[in-house]
Amino acid sequence: QNCILLGAPLDSGKRRLGCLMGPDAYRTAGLARALTDLGHDVTDRGNVAPAAFTPGQHPKLHALEETIAWTHSLADATQAALQDGTPIIMGGDHALASGTVLGAMRHAQAQDRPLFVLWLDAHSDFHTPESTDSGNLHGTPLGYVTGREGFDAFPALPYALPHDNIAIIGLRSVDAAERAALQETTIQRVDMREIDETGIATPLNTFLEKVAAAKGMLHVSLDVDFLDPSVAPAVGTTVPGGATVREGHLVMEMLHDSGLMTSLDLVELNPFLDERGRTAQLMVDLAASAFGRWVFDRPTRAY
Ligand code: ARG
Ligand code: MN
Ligand code: MN
Ligand code: MN
Repeated sequence: QNCILLGAPLDSGKRRLGCLMGPDAYRTAGLARALTDLGHDVTDRGNVAPAAFTPGQHPKLHALEETIAWTHSLADATQAALQDGTPIIMGGDHALASGTVLGAMRHAQAQDRPLFVLWLDAHSDFHTPESTDSGNLHGTPLGYVTGREGFDAFPALPYALPHDNIAIIGLRSVDAAERAALQETTIQRVDMREIDETGIATPLNTFLEKVAAAKGMLHVSLDVDFLDPSVAPAVGTTVPGGATVREGHLVMEMLHDSGLMTSLDLVELNPFLDERGRTAQLMVDLAASAFGRWVFDRPTRAY
């Protein structure tokens, strides 16, 4: 495959700083080399910059103008990269997904194919600018791309991403307003209890079969806090009880086997909070699994 690395040092989606170092942490941890070793063609297009903006003051929302500026530039960069290969967006906090999903929506529409989104996250990020308590816009990208109200200052959507085209896996921290709104939708919501009861493969297969049947494109957005903090400490919004290393790799291996993934976000890595690079390394290993590496021995399989 043609892997296109895009750095998105966006740090405006919340108040705690550090995600701007994410792209360089992925480079240092050897993301390009890991993909090259798997036989892929890899191009690092360097870091994207936000469109021009004037910072404003808002009683509640943090860095609204900057996040909107990033949404414009990341949508353009992602759409352009999709014409040439498989973009891997090295974040940056999760507010970047407003831009990357928008770019993927535009690309899919131009290809006359439906776009599906797999959101691997402890959180649902389904707030609107009105419903958010924290004022942190990294909690809003799924609200934006599904066409919820209150995003008028953001780039206009070509269409609202249908709820049926979204799965969120890993849920264990959902605010009351998000929960109420989510329950009105057909978004596939997979919480940790469901993962404990059925295993992570069952709900993921349900979703991937739907993507395949629709001949869809698939954007995957991997938030570091999908993983358990004991294995992935480098994120500002840790929530105990997350996915294990094995569950993470299984998801990525299944994505590779499906052949469906057309773009990938790696988000919320805060290298300032890491321990000797272990979270960055794990994220690189997970990305490699999504592009064909066998991290674990699979001695029972014929391959
Ligand atoms: N729901 C909380 C909020 O609105 C947390 C969001 C965390 N989002 C994330 N991308 N880590 O602030
Ligand atoms: Mn624009
Ligand atoms: Mn998130
Ligand atoms: Mn999260």
